[in-house]
Amino acid sequence: MNKGKMICSFITALAALCFMPHKTGAAEVPFTNETINAQKLWEYMTKENPYQHYPEWPGKEGIYESTMPPGDILRLYINDLALDTVVYKKGIFPNGSLLIKEIYTEEKKVSLLTVMYKAKGFNPKGNDWYWVKYKPDGEVKLEGKVELCIECHVGVAENDYVFTGSIKK
Ligand code: HEC
Repeated sequence: MNKGKMICSFITALAALCFMPHKTGAAEVPFTNETINAQKLWEYMTKENPYQHYPEWPGKEGIYESTMPPGDILRLYINDLALDTVVYKKGIFPNGSLLIKEIYTEEKKVSLLTVMYKAKGFNPKGNDWYWVKYKPDGEVKLEGKVELCIECHVGVAENDYVFTGSIKK
């Protein structure tokens, strides 16, 4: 390859890098308190950035049976922002945190998904969680400040409404 060609292909590669859609993962906040919407969140978590590629709660990987009521068979995915909080026990999940719980039937098929998304300013007295319950095809059953969800999760309000493990030091 001559020098001219080398420079040319270098520039092409550089340009390609610049135009490549790069997801930053760790810092991505897909929705704000104004834009959060269950239907759009479903598009995001199933198409744009499929949740099956997210990390799982450390120590709770794969499908497992809950020991707590309601005793679900479940699998729990969390995005990078949420993982950081769990790993470093930051005490509170930041804006953009996404927790996705798949609930399975006895035959190990997903029957429901329950989701918590942290949207700063959405519901300050409920730690700004946006709650959603989806059917596996994406149909939204419940969304927003869902009393049913909050009433039970408020029992762990001091752990930012999350049951699975302590996020406090
Ligand atoms: C009767 C109590 C109860 C109700 C009602 C409830 N949950 Fe939960 N939820 C739990 C428990 C207990 C866990 C911990 C995982 C497990 O063992 O199932 C959990 C876990 C979760 C998680 C994973 C994060 C965590 O807290 O560990 C999400 C997300 C979630 N629930 C969303 C919801 C949504 C959305 C609703 C309302 C549609 C809801 N939950 C209603 C008890 C409840």
